Amino acid sequence: MSIVFLDGDFIQKDEAKISPDDRGFLLADGVYEVTPFYNGVPFSLDRHMARLERSLAWMRINYSLDGLEEIHKQLIRANEFQDAPTSYVYVQITRGAAPRTHYFPQEDVEPTVYAFARTWERPSPERWAQGFSAMTVPDRRWSRADIKTICLLPNVLAFQDAIEAGADDAILVRDGVAIEGAHMNFWGVFDGTVVTHPTTSNILPGITREVVLELADQAGIALEERPIQVEELKDADELFFTGTTGEVRPITTLNGAVVGNGSVGSLTQKLSDLFHGKVQEVRSALEGPIA
Ligand SMILES: Cc1ncc(COP(=O)(O)O)c(C=O)c1O
Repeated sequence: MSIVFLDGDFIQKDEAKISPDDRGFLLADGVYEVTPFYNGVPFSLDRHMARLERSLAWMRINYSLDGLEEIHKQLIRANEFQDAPTSYVYVQITRGAAPRTHYFPQEDVEPTVYAFARTWERPSPERWAQGFSAMTVPDRRWSRADIKTICLLPNVLAFQDAIEAGADDAILVRDGVAIEGAHMNFWGVFDGTVVTHPTTSNILPGITREVVLELADQAGIALEERPIQVEELKDADELFFTGTTGEVRPITTLNGAVVGNGSVGSLTQKLSDLFHGKVQEVRSALEGPIA
């Protein structure tokens, strides 16, 4: 049985009750964040909390994040995930429960805060080495994809389209540009330069993206943050995604056609190794404090 956090209490999941008037349920009026833990050690927790703070500020949901880091760690402990190689904490904050209106509640309403911990599994090294397939689908999201709101319907529909077509993942395309994945950022390698979309309001500024950019820069890899045109994709030497539970994920088939030479590219491999090295470094430095 899993222990979840709801509005100040750690409780069994089957005891968690949320009002049918909750604006998250009725209007998708809320934000969320997902923070990875490796063997119980948080990775980039401060960056995830900073992004959550920005999401809340933009949505004008008044909630202080004091104590939220500790709640994350407590959830890992309560669910005994200290030894799980890979887990995460999901936290969702909605504007709260109030009579349904298309504007903010007139009265002061307490935001609803719900969080849970879960383990996730990396693909086996053999599976990863085969690479993954992706399909381009139209990006039907609103103009503020940079805010991590719980309104994920366009992402869900895009991902579903890709799965129904037999692909592992979706690449969202807007105005001829391959913007990002349905739940991961998107990258290409062209003539030795690693390219990803800049952090405009059209993409979710991924924490994994940020970390990988820093690692690539430190390693002296040529980098460019610019939109990737769909027409360029056929000339890409490598394609890959980055995300919290995807880490660095190679794409070796796009719309049924082989990418590059069909195997995981050398820069994708290098960035994946650097990312795993960083995870290991953070784990070694922090191991212990939350056990
Ligand atoms: C649309 C989208 N892009 C990118 C990402 C990757 O972000 P992160 O690396 O912080 O997990 C996510 C994560 O949920 C996402 O939903």
